Amino acid sequence: MIVPGSSSQSLAAALADETGRPLATATYDRFPDGERLAAVPEFTGEEAVVVATTDSDEAWVELLQLQDAVREAGAEHVTTVVPYMGYARQDESFGDGQPVSARAMAKAVSTGSDRVVLVNPHESAVADFYTVPATTVDAAGVLADPLPALDDPLFLAPDEGAIGIADTVREAYSAGETDYFEKHRDRETGEIEIVPSDAPVADRDVVVVDDIVATGSTMSEAIGVLTDRGVKRVFAACVHPMLAANATTKLRAAGVDRIVGTDTIERGCSVVSAAPAIADALDG
Ligand code: R5P
Repeated sequence: MIVPGSSSQSLAAALADETGRPLATATYDRFPDGERLAAVPEFTGEEAVVVATTDSDEAWVELLQLQDAVREAGAEHVTTVVPYMGYARQDESFGDGQPVSARAMAKAVSTGSDRVVLVNPHESAVADFYTVPATTVDAAGVLADPLPALDDPLFLAPDEGAIGIADTVREAYSAGETDYFEKHRDRETGEIEIVPSDAPVADRDVVVVDDIVATGSTMSEAIGVLTDRGVKRVFAACVHPMLAANATTKLRAAGVDRIVGTDTIERGCSVVSAAPAIADALDG
């Protein structure tokens, strides 16, 4: 059975449809002291696929509880799909006494799972932190689907690290070029400085592609540069539309025409699904 975390209910349903597995109805409650209680009262079968995005601390707790609940209910094999892995950007210690948070989270998940599937983690190397087999899935190609007919398109990565997924989206769109900006982030202040490439953008349609839009600083800085340089239309495409706090406003103010994302984090702009890519990893 597919077992959804509370923040991944649409994706889990899509995955159930995609793979032909039944969808379990999980419940999400709280104890009187505020502690969470995620459960699967009607779970049956030997195989569980827990699908739970980890975009908050509470979601991590829920994920661990669901893994444990399906074991209690008789599951003999548990696969954990982490559509968005929170804490993955802390994949090294940033200073004396600081944790490698991605490793800590991966170890905790591994205690209750037989196999893990990660969708576009920040760095694929975080898969190595799991102590059970962990595979990564690239769902970026589906971001080409909702794009309109583009005029002389440029697929732009806002930093070097995103060139791969910008290329994936360009290939899926079957037209255009790929380029990238250089980004510097001040670790103390979080401020972003973008160094533009010399790619001509005036009167062209540009799709800025990144793995995640979190605070929106990276994407809005890139969009601002493009707007200043006379871009025709600019689209923001990301696998994980975290869109924390005022990120959407920042992108709009910078001049974005449309934001598109997948359902690894379920938001209003999640117009395409990572389910087919995850299904391939599960059964392919
Ligand atoms: C960084 O390397 C990532 O690919 C994203 O560019 C970054 O995490 C986005 O964060 P924010 O939206 O806070 O700028």
